[in-house]
Amino acid sequence: MRILNASGCLDALTAPDVARSLDAFVTKTVTPRPREGNAPVRIAETDVGMLNSIGLANPGRDVFLAETLPQVREVGVPVWISVGGFAAHEYAETCARLEDVTIELNLSCPNVDEAADSAAAIVAACRVATKLPLYAKLSPANWDISEVAQAVQAAGADGLSLVNTMRGTALDELLRPRLGTWSGGLSGPALKPIALAAVHACWRATELPIVGMGGVMSGRDALELVAVGAQDVALGTVLFRDPEAPERVRSELAAELATIGVADVDDVRGVAHEGGAASLLSLTR
Ligand SMILES: Cc1cc2nc3c(=O)[nH]c(=O)nc-3n(C[C@H](O)[C@H](O)[C@H](O)COP(=O)(O)O)c2cc1C
Repeated sequence: MRILNASGCLDALTAPDVARSLDAFVTKTVTPRPREGNAPVRIAETDVGMLNSIGLANPGRDVFLAETLPQVREVGVPVWISVGGFAAHEYAETCARLEDVTIELNLSCPNVDEAADSAAAIVAACRVATKLPLYAKLSPANWDISEVAQAVQAAGADGLSLVNTMRGTALDELLRPRLGTWSGGLSGPALKPIALAAVHACWRATELPIVGMGGVMSGRDALELVAVGAQDVALGTVLFRDPEAPERVRSELAAELATIGVADVDDVRGVAHEGGAASLLSLTR
């Protein structure tokens, strides 16, 4: 199991030591043209997590490839590039220009208007454009996420990243919206049950490796995502309050595994599908 950051939740250039404590660094989503993002206020804390309406602020593909990416490579961890766009050909054009990275297709940002092309059409276009590993990052807002997962698998995805944020709104004391855009993406603890359900459904529906994310704050949270089928785990919101979270989650995970008497976290993958603790006991015998 690898520990990654969730896209948009860590800047490897301002925090290279945090990036080095990960097994791979995932960039903020890069779009064909520069984006300033949404009007402020773009972040609001809530009782159950964080709302953001960053809106894919990024320097655009050309500047990213010429300036940002070479510096990110110098940090010295494997790089995943989160690719965004507004039509299949835009995603594909970016993919065609990438080398020696894993690609995560952001098919699910709640802060920009829905991509006109379907997730499967975008993956199919990118599959033609590159031989690099392609992970499809899906929205948990779909009623049946496993159908989308099967469609992107058929279109050529090599893996799934689950989940992106869910759209939410928060009001201030005077009953005004706290975000400049009214609504934004809800992340953090409230997402964990949603992420567990999504990983569970997609693990049953496809054979694709899954990066699980959504509300991982502790080693226990990471273990639960693995138990429902995640191969790797990504940390998002937690990194804003605890830059040492990768190390902490790793050691908490080791303690959780010691408690249940399992040496290798990969042995836990999917056990929630097979009776959970009962099947773990058979592992430890
Ligand atoms: C401030 C912020 C910015 C984000 N930007 C992106 C992004 O650019 N691309 C993307 O795919 N997901 C983005 N996300 C979503 C995260 O990658 C992740 O899917 C989500 O936050 C759930 O994980 P968490 O609950 O651990 O934060 C962003 C999340 C936050 C909080």
